[in-house]
Amino acid sequence: MPDQKTFYLTTPIYYPSDNLHIGHAYCSVAADTVARFKKQEGYDVYFVTGTDEHGQKIERKAKDKGVTPQAYVDEIVAGIKKLWQLMDVDYDDFIRTTDERHVRCVQGIFRKLFEQGDIYKDHYEGWYCTPCESFFTELQLKDGRCPDCGRPVEKTREEAYFFKLGKYQQWLIDYIEQNPDFIQPASRKNEMLNNFLRPGLNDLCVSRTSIKWGIPVDFDAAHTVYVWLDALTNYISVLGYGSSDDSLYRKYWPADVHLVGKEIIRFHTIIWPIILHALGEPLPKQVFGHGWLVLDGMKMSKSLGNVVDPVALAGRYGSDAIRYFLMREMPFGSDGQFSYEALLKRLNADLANDLGNLVSRTVAMVEKYFGGDVPAPESYTDVDAALISLAEATPAKVRAQMDELQFSSALSEIWALIGECNRYIDVTAPWVLCKSEEGAHRLKTVMYVLCECIRYVGVLIAPTMPQTPALLFGQLGLTDAAMMTLDSLAQFGRLPAGTHVCKGDALFPRIDIAKELADILPTPKAEPAPQAKPAPKAEVKDVPAGDGVISIDDFFKVQLRVARVLTAEKVEGSDKLLKLTLRLGADEPERTVVSGIAKFYTPESVVGRQVALVANLKPAKLRGILSQGMILCASDAADSKLTLVSVGEGMEDGATIR
Ligand code: MSP
Repeated sequence: MPDQKTFYLTTPIYYPSDNLHIGHAYCSVAADTVARFKKQEGYDVYFVTGTDEHGQKIERKAKDKGVTPQAYVDEIVAGIKKLWQLMDVDYDDFIRTTDERHVRCVQGIFRKLFEQGDIYKDHYEGWYCTPCESFFTELQLKDGRCPDCGRPVEKTREEAYFFKLGKYQQWLIDYIEQNPDFIQPASRKNEMLNNFLRPGLNDLCVSRTSIKWGIPVDFDAAHTVYVWLDALTNYISVLGYGSSDDSLYRKYWPADVHLVGKEIIRFHTIIWPIILHALGEPLPKQVFGHGWLVLDGMKMSKSLGNVVDPVALAGRYGSDAIRYFLMREMPFGSDGQFSYEALLKRLNADLANDLGNLVSRTVAMVEKYFGGDVPAPESYTDVDAALISLAEATPAKVRAQMDELQFSSALSEIWALIGECNRYIDVTAPWVLCKSEEGAHRLKTVMYVLCECIRYVGVLIAPTMPQTPALLFGQLGLTDAAMMTLDSLAQFGRLPAGTHVCKGDALFPRIDIAKELADILPTPKAEPAPQAKPAPKAEVKDVPAGDGVISIDDFFKVQLRVARVLTAEKVEGSDKLLKLTLRLGADEPERTVVSGIAKFYTPESVVGRQVALVANLKPAKLRGILSQGMILCASDAADSKLTLVSVGEGMEDGATIR
């Protein structure tokens, strides 16, 4: 028998926080969905998650609570494991950076890199952002604050070890260029190359003496290993790398995919590959940077007070419903809005109506017309054949989308089948067929086709919705596990006739959206009446008002920002418009902007460029696409020439233009 193919995938390891929100669950649910799908495909899957427990932030929080850092993290980690259980995130191992196995692995790697000359001792001077656990140079700061999160930074000077990142810069550029699948989606690849690698890599400070809660350098105990070097190593320490038993490492490494949020892709595609390469180890096959779940346009975060609690959601609607929403609502790789209204609409439309009704109607009809026994089909008409061939084609379509981690499209394919089944009921009209003898024969085929299609749906939704298939198969009366595998969908018609269906509760109850929203959303507090602002005084006395003259206050109402074009494509049906995705910095959601530059710029020529964006323009729909801002161009009166307003070298994405 040939060896079973392996598949190793990871989530990032989470900071121990007592309120992981639905955005955190997003990544774990996605990883779990992949793991389950790959198992269905017959892979030997290893799926790992864990917690990133060291660093100053934890040290401080534990101190505030009057407990040891270890006691502090132990309690939180227990809660995180419960959350994953609630969300059916079924990992194979959970690595904690405080595990002895991890500590020894990190120390071994640090020593090896030091002994081979890739790590050396020097002095560190710079700015440290505690929440981000990152060092910055003076130049990298934004308005004197952390360029990633905007919070205050602390000046630091101390003896430190450095890792020679710069030595590997060209090797990494070549590697990324030669391995186009390594960084996904592709727009993130350009961002890494243009924003970080090509401008040049500084050597990285990889130890601290002022932080005690971390892994000590074993040959120089005054030093604690830099948290990112510590954290990234989890992906191999969990496999026993460098230990006396590295069989898992030999079996599963290199990882097939690291799933990470877009703000930490930089660590995973620059620092991590260089560490591995310096160690002489192969690189993960892919790092996929997914987008954020945003609420009211802002990334969810505890400090912004806009988090949505997954425990409450799963408790109210069931974890399958939440998992479905997370995977269906937004393309993996892009940001997506979370709103209760969108969630409830999806639950009603897709789950209660499309899927739930299909199952309950079919089961009820098999009970009513055939005493509950699925009839054997007699002969297939063209209408049946069309549905059957769609059912047979769906697994391959789902697989193609899953291979690209396009969960939303994979689910759309399954829902296309569900939609066709519902239309098939309307077209075949079983309630009419049952009235004639000829119709009664045809009815057998119709009921069989529907039950078999529902079996297909049950198998295909299982990776995303692990609990629903059991209920669905229960109603179909299926008990044979062989009928629930992906392989069993290779050919339509394997459902044994005579299977006895069994009507149960609605799979997904319909929700009264207005009532539910009134129940769950906080009642808005009455806003205090806005104070009338005194009219701004004209500052420049000798320029007459009118004639288009505006005050400086008026001008400052316009927020102009530097934005980087991540993706660009032509808007279908228009020769003028390009649809652009823009990045304004690591802590802000990406924006879509539709711009009339297509006659002057090809999509490829603008990707990677920085542009000037009017960032606070009221969003407007252009050709059905919501455009969130406007980019500035210079053009002549006849519009025969046009150039993008450009920004000088070295400005951070998101910088203010004034
Ligand atoms: N500890 C680091 C990762 C180290 S990996 C070697 C970390 N932890 S985290 O807890 O802050 O974030 C964990 C993951 O959750 C990240 O991939 C992050 O992008 C993801 N999310 C946190 N908020 C999110 C949303 N609102 N939406 C989607 N994912 C987001 O970073």
